[in-house]
Amino acid sequence: DFYPELKRLRDLSPVFDGDLRRHFGLHGDLTMAHLRHVAVLGYKEVKDVLLAPKLYSNTVYGHNMGVFFGDSITIMDNPDHARYRQLFQKAFMPKMIASWGEHLIPRMINDLIDGFEGRGRAELISEFTLHFPFHFIHELMGLPIEDRAVFHKLAFGQIAITFDTEHGMDAVTKLKDYLTAVVHDRRDNPREGDFMSTIATAEVDGERLPDNVVISFFRQLMNAGGDTSFNGFSSVLTALLTHPDQFEQVKADRTLVPKAIEEGLRWNCPVPGISRTPVETVELGGVTINPGDHMMVFLASANRDEKAFERPDAFDISRATRNHAAFGYGPHMCIGQHLARLEMVNALNALLDRLPRLRLDGDFPPPEVCGMALRGPKAIHVRFD
Ligand code: HEM
Repeated sequence: DFYPELKRLRDLSPVFDGDLRRHFGLHGDLTMAHLRHVAVLGYKEVKDVLLAPKLYSNTVYGHNMGVFFGDSITIMDNPDHARYRQLFQKAFMPKMIASWGEHLIPRMINDLIDGFEGRGRAELISEFTLHFPFHFIHELMGLPIEDRAVFHKLAFGQIAITFDTEHGMDAVTKLKDYLTAVVHDRRDNPREGDFMSTIATAEVDGERLPDNVVISFFRQLMNAGGDTSFNGFSSVLTALLTHPDQFEQVKADRTLVPKAIEEGLRWNCPVPGISRTPVETVELGGVTINPGDHMMVFLASANRDEKAFERPDAFDISRATRNHAAFGYGPHMCIGQHLARLEMVNALNALLDRLPRLRLDGDFPPPEVCGMALRGPKAIHVRFD
């Protein structure tokens, strides 16, 4: 639980001059070990940085995300970022998302629940939350079902690169080759209404998008859409199951489902920190930061800042949570946030519809949310009638 220490540091200063991962006794991100690190902890400071893209650049992601995803939009600044994001955003239009919510998402979620509904007990991460976000991305890309397990494994492999370089690089190469072949095929044989064909054949200023940008976007989607969502939803479930009074309220009044999800994401933010570097020397929270320094912008700390949220350490679905930092702010704010919300609302409602008296299994320790690069619980053992 890093929150008490984050609070102690935030009370000293909204900006911490040092590498928080090392501060917490972790190895840190090996690909960034050579940089000077500064952590932005206050809600106001986090927002100030993310809303000033001219002053704070995303290019520092080249040291980590650039290694695992290549030239994805997250490592770009303007004008490239605006140009490509605008295009990718078209794939996430509200109408498109609403149509996924009608059939595809409920079908995938219900198929997974079929697997354990009759058993009266389950471990919800390995049997449920770990799968549907990846299944969805896989279907969205229109990839063959028989490739799903390998695809899921490679997605994990590519983000493990910072602590398992050999296997990580192998996963990156395999994924690149796999997706390059698919993108080329969709260019030659575009499919009607197909997400991947739309992006593979899209044009900017009369020219098709470069291969590296398209392929990096799809590689990023696998983790950006999969790992974040499964950790986020697992944390929301943990919050509800460990606060039975509030869980009962949600069961009794389903209009509370979206509020519970937002508060769960605030309380335990799946992506604790994101990266920036200043383009010129800046003073922030009393710390001088130079171009090239790695700023870890701590969304998890912003979400527990008492200057922004009353009693921030309490999980409380009755609070106004909307402005939480879990999806970031500014031009790089999560492109998949509406999809993520839709998946989570569907998943929570389906669990409540189909698993009466859903509760923690007393034979196992209660789930605990942990982690530094991505945060979530490791297991959620439940029972139901
Ligand atoms: C960006 C969090 C789900 C795709 C981001 C950022 C955050 C975030 C914090 C901002 C990064 C930055 O500013 O540096 C989350 C969380 C999710 C989630 C907490 C689930 C609970 C998704 C889903 C997708 C997705 C479902 C797509 C299927 C992306 C992409 C970006 C992004 C492509 C890069 C946007 C850009 O740089 O312009 N996400 N995300 N995310 N997210 Fe998500």
